[in-house]
Amino acid sequence: MKRILLLGYGHVGKTFREFLSRWSSELDAQIAGVVTRRGIMLGDNPDFRKDIEGGINEALGKVKPDVLVDTSSANYKDGEPSISAYYRCFESGIDVITTNKAPLALNFTAILDKAKKLGRRVGFQGTVMSGTPSINLYRVLPVAKVRRIRGILNGTTNFILTMMYNGVSFDEALMEAKRKGYAEEDPTLDLNGFDAAAKLTILTNWMLNRNVKLGQFPFKGIEGISMQSIEDAKKRGLKMKLIAYADDKEIKVSPMEVNKDDPFFSIDGVDNSLEVTNEVQSVTIRGPGAGSETAAYAAISDLFLFKVMK
Ligand code: HSE
Repeated sequence: MKRILLLGYGHVGKTFREFLSRWSSELDAQIAGVVTRRGIMLGDNPDFRKDIEGGINEALGKVKPDVLVDTSSANYKDGEPSISAYYRCFESGIDVITTNKAPLALNFTAILDKAKKLGRRVGFQGTVMSGTPSINLYRVLPVAKVRRIRGILNGTTNFILTMMYNGVSFDEALMEAKRKGYAEEDPTLDLNGFDAAAKLTILTNWMLNRNVKLGQFPFKGIEGISMQSIEDAKKRGLKMKLIAYADDKEIKVSPMEVNKDDPFFSIDGVDNSLEVTNEVQSVTIRGPGAGSETAAYAAISDLFLFKVMK
């Protein structure tokens, strides 16, 4: 049985634990410890109890996991303590699975290069579109060069824009998105386009083989969008969507009006969508993009991939 150390025990961490106990034998894995800001729990238990004091370094030493699963919340200041924890894991022969976007949005190339050099694996499906296989889609599409990616990558703003299209006010829609657990701890990051930009950074580096950093391309959110402008667009047969775009020449996140012929026109509510165009063809996927179940499921699917990839 693979030993998992779980970093973070919020909604995503708890749901991951439930899913893991459901599929433990298929995945051949079990929780061997949990580390949070409150301390370290050894073994597995639905309710966190502190068995010993300490942080991630102590936990790695005591638990001796095979895989670290990072469900802690994003720290965009420096990506810590996750980034240092990943490096320590790679050096100690431990694979990493993360649903935390900050480390890879800040330091994608360094983290993946280090893992590769030390022969370790990084599962990061949960960082973009949660359990809808965007990152992992590319693992099966790697030969033809990707030319362009286009996506709806933030569930909260798509949910709000959909509610507004149906006549619900921005404030009410935002409250509902928070209640449903879609929004970031600080929802400004959803509303101002930062979260979509973080995901676009990861996708661009991964699929277009670039080394872009957050802050190197423009992003805009939905803060300035009024009910009036959504209604005006509706009268013209259009919907407002927050679209992330990257090709060789341009990378950006910005609200755009789309018409009925656009595959994104029908992407409503918390769903996300991604269109990947390579030298040969275009593939479009859609599915839930936020919420603790789909995020936890992303980490489960990475664990399954590790098992089948050996
Ligand atoms: N706040 C994010 C969103 C969560 O709404 O898409 C999933 O990354």
